[in-house]
Amino acid sequence: MIDVSINTQTVLAGVSIGLVVFYAIKRMRYRLPPGPWSIPLVGNYSVYTSVEVHKKAMELSKKYGPVLSLSFGPKRLIILNNIDVVLEAMVKRKADFAGRPKFTSGDLFTEGGKDIVLSTYSPTWKLHRKIAGKALRHYLQGDLLENMIQDNMNKFLNKMAQEKDPFCARDYINLMVFHQLYTICFGEKRTVDDPEVKGFLKLDEDLLNEFGTGVLEDLFPYFKDIYPTAKWTKLVDKIGEVLAILRAKFKEHLDTFEPGVNRDFIDSLLIARQEAENEGDEAALEKLDDTHLVQTISDIFFAGVDSTRMTMDWFVYFMTKHPEIQSKCQEEIDRVVGSGMPSMKNRNDFDLIEACLFETMRMGNVAGLGVPHKTICDSEVGGYDIPKGTTVMINHWALHHDPKYWKDHESFDPYRYLDENGKMKPTRPDSWLPFSAGRRVCLGETVAKPELLLMCANLLKRFEIRLPDGIEANPEYRMIGFGVELPSEYKIVVTERVKN
Ligand code: HEM
Repeated sequence: MIDVSINTQTVLAGVSIGLVVFYAIKRMRYRLPPGPWSIPLVGNYSVYTSVEVHKKAMELSKKYGPVLSLSFGPKRLIILNNIDVVLEAMVKRKADFAGRPKFTSGDLFTEGGKDIVLSTYSPTWKLHRKIAGKALRHYLQGDLLENMIQDNMNKFLNKMAQEKDPFCARDYINLMVFHQLYTICFGEKRTVDDPEVKGFLKLDEDLLNEFGTGVLEDLFPYFKDIYPTAKWTKLVDKIGEVLAILRAKFKEHLDTFEPGVNRDFIDSLLIARQEAENEGDEAALEKLDDTHLVQTISDIFFAGVDSTRMTMDWFVYFMTKHPEIQSKCQEEIDRVVGSGMPSMKNRNDFDLIEACLFETMRMGNVAGLGVPHKTICDSEVGGYDIPKGTTVMINHWALHHDPKYWKDHESFDPYRYLDENGKMKPTRPDSWLPFSAGRRVCLGETVAKPELLLMCANLLKRFEIRLPDGIEANPEYRMIGFGVELPSEYKIVVTERVKN
């Protein structure tokens, strides 16, 4: 009996020493980036659980340098805090940083990484990104996007015009963007008060508000099997509801699909599958099963809906805060379109509005710390080694507030993007990167920019928007996830500029 106990202790001590030596040797092999001391296994708890993680990381980077190393529970997490190291990692190092780390809640939502956003760098990810990109480009042809936006906006602007008391702009913006994505993805045009769309929006809001900061199971995955938290159980239910809706939409399309007829994004995916079938491309067909296609729809819907509605929310906030800039935008719209409606062909003449959108994207931190990357091989950045399998994040906030690139970075100043003739400067500012860069650059950038521009121009053409009398713009903001900021709840009043 005594012998067994001694043996067990010896074995345990041996294993512990072995592990310490293993990690010490591993550490010595690499020149790892520096960071603050952390509690073993728990990590830099006060940083990664802070709602202002992006600001804390930027502060720490002043001491430790732009490549900041933190411990996220038992795992290493690197945060890149300036444009040089971000471009080195994401562009210069080609695909080295293009992987995605697995995490428990992400796996649940993506049915094991079968989507685009959270799936790691692989031939399957490449194929789905290619197909989804082609499907999105379809909306940039002719006046498809423009007609859809105008049709949709008119419904909501008419309803806004009926508001006599101060109202929450966010409620309208959220629905507007949701209806837009309903048309793009599902080919559906629904009435403004449609309960299904409202229910879907509520599900999305619940997911962001309740789970945006993650669940314990992301740090300690085995909890979900032995003692799942109440939060995890609720998350499983909510995600189940979302996926059931998407699967039903997909099934409706499968049942009514006619080869060669492209009604919407889902049909574009079915056409891509049909083409692979016609070409007898077995390798592609294997990757184009129903689960993968539903996951691609989920990505386009949610990546599109959340970033766009939050950007629009910030735009309205800044316009009410800076009425003098709003008036200048309206002068620009009137000068360009006269009594007509803003359209895609005016796009290159809306310089000030575009500059306001650029500035909105710089200051409204809708991407937070972006989507986590993972190194797929041993690599380097900023003179440090980054071992294979390390999680790496981009601090978009730090890039957009770097005093080296932004004068008065706390001020909303759209004129910084314009030349002396009031035209947008030909190159984007060096440290402006809301859509990220490299292999994983946002897939929707080319749709999001014209979509947002048209929505903002249509809104300002129709209304003068202001805060209710006696109310000042609230400088506070609400954090809803890993560094993602939204303006605090605010109400606006609208006055019609031109009676239709
Ligand atoms: C203001 C609007 C938007 C912003 C600021 C934005 C920003 C971003 C960012 C920061 C990423 C992560 C890039 C990385 O991993 O480094 C991303 C990825 C992505 N975005 Fe967007 N996005 C916007 C709109 C859209 C729209 C409208 C769509 C689709 C219709 C979309 C689809 C995607 C997809 C599919 C990915 C994943 C790409 C991949 O992992 O390969 N985004 N976006």
